[in-house]
Amino acid sequence: MQLNAPLDMHLHLRDGEMLTRIAKYSAETFSGAIIMPNLVPPVTTKEEVIAYRQRIIQAIGGKTFIPYMTLFFHPSFNKTFLNALRHDITAIKLYPAGITTNSEEGVNGFDIEELRPVLEAMSELEIPLCVHGETNGFVMDREAEFVHIYEKLATAFPKLKIIMEHITTKESVEALDRFDNLYATITLHHLLITLDDVAGGMLQPHLFCKPIAKRPEDREALLNVALRAHPKVMFGSDSAPHPKHAKESCGCAAGIFTAPIALQLLTELFEQHDSLHTLQAFISDNARHIYNIKATPKKIILEKKPFQIPPDYEGVVPMFANKTITYSIKRVIHL
Ligand code: NCD
Ligand code: ZN
Ligand code: ZN
Repeated sequence: MQLNAPLDMHLHLRDGEMLTRIAKYSAETFSGAIIMPNLVPPVTTKEEVIAYRQRIIQAIGGKTFIPYMTLFFHPSFNKTFLNALRHDITAIKLYPAGITTNSEEGVNGFDIEELRPVLEAMSELEIPLCVHGETNGFVMDREAEFVHIYEKLATAFPKLKIIMEHITTKESVEALDRFDNLYATITLHHLLITLDDVAGGMLQPHLFCKPIAKRPEDREALLNVALRAHPKVMFGSDSAPHPKHAKESCGCAAGIFTAPIALQLLTELFEQHDSLHTLQAFISDNARHIYNIKATPKKIILEKKPFQIPPDYEGVVPMFANKTITYSIKRVIHL
């Protein structure tokens, strides 16, 4: 099995020591990734985006990997400000305040009129809007409740590309086909697990993330569009490393670390569903079309050979630690 220029359209690389520890796992097997801006403090200025990009390049240490940078949305942005950093970013990420890890500086309430000037400017400058789409309602309903906000945004700004990040529900999948300008990323974990895997037996902190994994019928809906590589969906791992002590603790941090195992597990999953022929589109081609980007060439050769997932990667426990899966990475060819 061979994959060309895999792209991870939703990735947390963190900063400082964690960045140094984990950046290589993405840079090794992916050609590039959309880098999420939820640092503390968040990435909100041109200077911060440029400096963060430099720190990522340094952490990657010469590997061919493009960090596609994003800015943390703030309603105070204006067109002059955005125009000046248009070429430093690929998208802007909007977080409702307090809804997920490091989102405290996000948007409070969802007044489209208040957001209109920034969203109109983004639309004119052709800057895609990425959204963590959850309300602060009951945890299982948060994403479905957010769909009407996606609909309002998509209607009010028909030329703005809106990416529904890490979708987990059939309601979000259905919204994709109702609006030309709605797109979505889908994670590996939401294709594999449901709430049962997180909390149906003993609590599994390493499967805890936002949005929480949902019902079997939701996972079915996600699989249905991912496996046929629906042109409006693309892979975004939402690989979100936290130190082991922050996960295995009272008050477990939200986020699942999948970067080093994503391609192997996706190959296994697509093979199980006789869909290996669509994996290339899901892992790269769709994203290139949606974001209009050229990816650095890189070929990943996978082979059907058992691979035991390590217990941790430098202190970060991956999803499915210690499990043996059926595909391994054989070789990476840098072209
Ligand atoms: C992410 C993180 O840790 O930064 N956590 C998560 O559970 N997905 C934030 C996010 O993507 O919502
Ligand atoms: Zn999120
Ligand atoms: Zn995320």
